[in-house]
Amino acid sequence: MREPFELEWYGGISEKYFRRVRPGVDEMPWGTLEPSRYPPELVERARVSWTEAAFNEYCTAVAFSDLLRSLLEVRAPIDLIGMASDFLADEVLHVELTSRIAMELGGGAPYEVDFGALGLPTRPNESPLFHATESVVKLCCVGEAYSVAMLAGCMKRASHPLTKAVLEQIVRDEAPHGRFGFLYLDWVADRLTDRDRTLLATSALDSIATYAPLWQRLRSKIHDGHTTEGFELAHIHELGWMESDAYARTAVEAVENDVLIPLAERSIMIDRARLAPLLETTYDSA
Ligand SMILES: [Fe+2]
Ligand SMILES: [Fe+2]
Repeated sequence: MREPFELEWYGGISEKYFRRVRPGVDEMPWGTLEPSRYPPELVERARVSWTEAAFNEYCTAVAFSDLLRSLLEVRAPIDLIGMASDFLADEVLHVELTSRIAMELGGGAPYEVDFGALGLPTRPNESPLFHATESVVKLCCVGEAYSVAMLAGCMKRASHPLTKAVLEQIVRDEAPHGRFGFLYLDWVADRLTDRDRTLLATSALDSIATYAPLWQRLRSKIHDGHTTEGFELAHIHELGWMESDAYARTAVEAVENDVLIPLAERSIMIDRARLAPLLETTYDSA
């Protein structure tokens, strides 16, 4: 059943405890983004983009909660499980931060979601250990390792105190989320078969393919400090984005350096022939 992507805040004691485990939020410069400074069409795009960011953080929280259950089921080392447990509160915090930016820009964009169908799909009829490992590969070794590099690129360029503070917090939290994936793979290495590794490589490739439209659909270029659509580059950076060509370049580098290389070091070798078209961008010949 699809329902509006609307979030509730309870306040009082729950807020106090949440702030105790994730402090620093009230000190961020809330209320300083002025939508009237930007063209309405750009504000609309930013509302959509920060709402999508909130939704993605929400999905990641669901994926981590599913993963935690799988890790407990396969008796992964409890310090590894403890490390991953902390990520759930990180993702919930990121939902809060990103949705509050959307609110500052005029409110979350209308978005319909099936809250019962948000988990990551995995292969049926495999062992619990394979299920846990496949979830780690898709969520951490691809999704988180890729997105931390992209968020870091946006953070470096963010030129408004609020978007910068939020992106700095998220990037700081995200670094161990990708790292965890490769720590887990080192722990599980002795128990994986060649068949497992081949299947995991396919799962990783499928996961990369779900991200590819993010860098393959970009067309905009920068000329004289403006995008192809006529928006000011300075505004793009204030609202927390990277310009398209930098985004595409950073994305391809992130997949190569932060996903493919560390997976290959663990003998999870992605089919280069199938991967190549996914890494092509409109900026390749520029
Ligand atoms: Fe996050
Ligand atoms: Fe994360």
